Amino acid sequence: MAVLLPGGAGFIGSHTAVELLKEGKEIVIIDNFSNSKPEVLDNIKKITGKDFKFYEIDYLNRKDLEKVFEENKIDSVINFAGFKAVGESVQKPIEYYTNNVSGALILLDTMKKYGCKKFIFSSSATVYGDPERIPITEDCKTGGTTNPYGTTKLFIEQILKDIYQSDNTWDICILRYFNPVGAHESGLIGEEPQGIPNNLMPYIVRVANGQLKELSVFGNDYPTKDGTGVRDYIHVVDLAKGHLKALDKLDKEGKGLYIYNLGTGIGYSVLDMVKAFEKATGRQVPYKIAPRRSGDIAKCYADPKKANEELGWKAEKTLEDMCKDSWNYIAKK
Ligand code: UFG
Repeated sequence: MAVLLPGGAGFIGSHTAVELLKEGKEIVIIDNFSNSKPEVLDNIKKITGKDFKFYEIDYLNRKDLEKVFEENKIDSVINFAGFKAVGESVQKPIEYYTNNVSGALILLDTMKKYGCKKFIFSSSATVYGDPERIPITEDCKTGGTTNPYGTTKLFIEQILKDIYQSDNTWDICILRYFNPVGAHESGLIGEEPQGIPNNLMPYIVRVANGQLKELSVFGNDYPTKDGTGVRDYIHVVDLAKGHLKALDKLDKEGKGLYIYNLGTGIGYSVLDMVKAFEKATGRQVPYKIAPRRSGDIAKCYADPKKANEELGWKAEKTLEDMCKDSWNYIAKK
């Protein structure tokens, strides 16, 4: 019995693949390399010393997807496939809705056809919009997303709730990620945004190695301790391990639709991140204060208690690990 990982060559998918292989699970990866590279697959094998099946296909292609289900005994699916650039999604809404929402529908329909009903979905804290409460618990109101990327996550969550409502033999787990950063400690896999990064940590790393001149800190007049935006940064390896715990729960208990925040519960400001990075790596990160970025909120961090109590999961890595590992990945290149 194998776990299928659509988008398994991507940032979070590849780290989860490593953790699954380390636990002795059989996996099958599908990816079309739209935002990843084939060498990632070799590096997953190098880290784990284990092999797995791979198909270079687009999950929008139903025929290709069916072939994967025909040729393998797929027991569960963890869906990492999806476009994820907030700014780009505003420019290309049709592409985002097609790839993320239609892709998920084709995947779920194919699963149904083959009697596979165990599904873990990569959602995001973005579904809380401007959160009604901080720290954010899973029962906080969702909605009010400010870009098509975020709305695709919200729509897919609703689709999953409707599917479960219609047929409660599905086992579904929605994982709402906060801000994933870091990389595998080997430096072999990590985050590789195309072009100029939008997210804070990849930007900091490229300022530190001289590829970019300085960081623009988007706003220093938010109602936070130093005026800069506060987020819940979580090490990608901790995040990956959360998927294994979710899978365990579905394997052992199943029969339900579960929703969990995956965050540390600690909020750091942009300036905290700059200082922590400089301390952990010894590199300088020059910055300037710039205007607020549209669509940004002041504060966003999780209450991770539910995942802790129900999954037995807790983020373990420190902010220093996040900074060191993010830097190590780029420095090794
Ligand atoms: N920031 C800067 N300068 C930069 C980049 C970011 O000051 O060059 C600031 C932002 O204003 C924000 C913080 O750093 O305060 C974090 O920004 P990111 O872009 O790294 O992350 P976001 O919280 O905006 O977005 C992340 C994910 C999205 C997800 C969203 C909500 O990247 O996928 O969280 O969960 F939708």
